[in-house]
Amino acid sequence: MYTDDNQLYIAHCDNGPINMVGKMANRHGLIAGATGTGKTVTLQVLAESFSQAGVPCFMADMKGDLSGISQAGQMSSFIEKRLPEFFPVENAEEANSQRSTFNPQRFSGCPTRFFDVFGEQGYPMRATISMMGPQLLARLMQLNETQAGVLNAVFRIADDNNLLLIDLKDLRLMLDFVGKNAAKFTTEYGNIAPASIGAIQRAILQLESEGGEKFFGEPAFNIEDLFAVENGKGVMNVLAADRLMLNPKLYSTFLLWLMTEIYSRLPEVGDMDLPKLVFFFDEAHMLFEGTSKALIDKIEQVIRLIRSKGVGIYFITQVPSDVPANILAQLGNRVQHALRAFTPQDQKAVRAAAQTFRANPDFKTEEAIMDLGTGEALVSFLDAKGSPSIVERAKILFPLSQIGAITAGQRLDINAAAPDNIKEYENFVDRESAYEVLTEVNQQLEETKQQELEAAEAQKAAKEKEKEEAKAAKEKAKKEKTSKSIKRGILGTMIGAAASSFARSIGTQIGKSVLGGTTKASTKKTSSSTKKSTTKKSSATKSASSTVKKAAKKAGQTAVNTATRKVTQEILKSILK
Ligand SMILES: Nc1ncnc2c1ncn2[C@@H]1O[C@H](COP(=O)(O)OP(=O)(O)OP(=O)(O)O)[C@@H](O)[C@H]1O
Ligand SMILES: [Mg+2]
Repeated sequence: MYTDDNQLYIAHCDNGPINMVGKMANRHGLIAGATGTGKTVTLQVLAESFSQAGVPCFMADMKGDLSGISQAGQMSSFIEKRLPEFFPVENAEEANSQRSTFNPQRFSGCPTRFFDVFGEQGYPMRATISMMGPQLLARLMQLNETQAGVLNAVFRIADDNNLLLIDLKDLRLMLDFVGKNAAKFTTEYGNIAPASIGAIQRAILQLESEGGEKFFGEPAFNIEDLFAVENGKGVMNVLAADRLMLNPKLYSTFLLWLMTEIYSRLPEVGDMDLPKLVFFFDEAHMLFEGTSKALIDKIEQVIRLIRSKGVGIYFITQVPSDVPANILAQLGNRVQHALRAFTPQDQKAVRAAAQTFRANPDFKTEEAIMDLGTGEALVSFLDAKGSPSIVERAKILFPLSQIGAITAGQRLDINAAAPDNIKEYENFVDRESAYEVLTEVNQQLEETKQQELEAAEAQKAAKEKEKEEAKAAKEKAKKEKTSKSIKRGILGTMIGAAASSFARSIGTQIGKSVLGGTTKASTKKTSSSTKKSTTKKSSATKSASSTVKKAAKKAGQTAVNTATRKVTQEILKSILK
């Protein structure tokens, strides 16, 4: 409950009311406790107190029970019993009669807007792929380091080529494009392995099958819409997360994105009497499970710096150790509901939770944690100087709004009463982005390829024709040549053979006559007979010589002819000597 001096009245202990100092509300906080101990109601009490102070909040509603914040609460026997402690009367006599100063007319709801990533129970809350960025997407899709590197390169390629990555189909086509042209990008953007592209594409399919495609697109959520104030009350922005929490990766990545988006968009404001916005992160353990050290470091940095932008972040989880130690150390405002210690591990968690508090000499923190009833908690807020107060065992105030879920009809009424800027989120737009541009590029490439293919085919056909014509011409020429050479061949052989046999016969005769008689008589005889025969043969030789010459001429420069000519010349020489 907001008190006029920038304080939030949250709980009451034996020493009196416990207030959260508005100035310290941006120093973040933690609400922890076992199931059913009162965490959601504590969140509701805190959130509606901020609303009363004019501070808007964002909260994820895991079970639908936070929707009650939109309606006025009512008296219950549980609340009635606690009233005299929370709102004691001044005079002792009345106090003894268990009366209180609380006026039931104070029950009231907060201005509320419902959002739903899946667009079912509230207005869609979307982000674009490029807003989400490669690091968060890699986490969402559970990519390994290599795949995350490729995704990063794909983002850079898109950026460098002015390709807008808005929805999953943009990313899918972009991956396809980069994969097909990987060789062209590798030098500038590093190795783009087809296996990594394939793995990312499979992860996208998985994300789509889980309804993730509803989350990516336009109009993207404008963080400024979270800062609405109506009639002096901060608006409660409630995200329906019952379906979303079935996909822990999407849930936590989405909230992480929202947190970083708020951080990057808000200006520094320094110390303020009250925060500008309070962000409640229910089931916070989901945020840190399976998260890389690098991302946890980044979350830690955002949490540390976001407070100077006037934003308080409150984590709600079962045991404090669900939150990494360096983040836990930054959560100054603590509400610890009961923890059960059935196993040694539980006992360890209780001990660890107890150690995070500044001890109170009146009780043992560890024992008290296990002894707390519903709606009771160990509370320690930062004092005006920023130091954690001594832990108190306290009862958490009841909310002025309704505890528990509203009806579907009430939800419809609230949605129908939303302002136009919120209703606008329902009008999904699909403007030109990477998908459209790349589809066109692919189409053009396809057409060019087709044209090239056709041109290549035409060229091939022309070449074939040319080849065939050449072949035909060659064959024709060959046929002609063959018949000529056959003629020549036969002729040459014939002539050559005739000449050589003739020459041989002449040669034999000449040889006989040359090598024959060595005596004069015989020589004479021989010479006369030779002369006779030579005379007889000389006309034949002459005609043979001309025949040989002719034959030789016809037969060309063949060896036979050459030899024949040589022999003939020798014979002629010897005859004509
Ligand atoms: N401060 C309170 N004032 C009045 N009633 C309370 C308060 N705290 C808890 N209750 C009662 O206890 C019930 C359970 O509380 P709550 O739903 O907050 O538990 P939880 O810790 O959020 O449980 P879970 O882990 O299952 O979500 C509430 O429905 C409400 O009836
Ligand atoms: Mg709860």
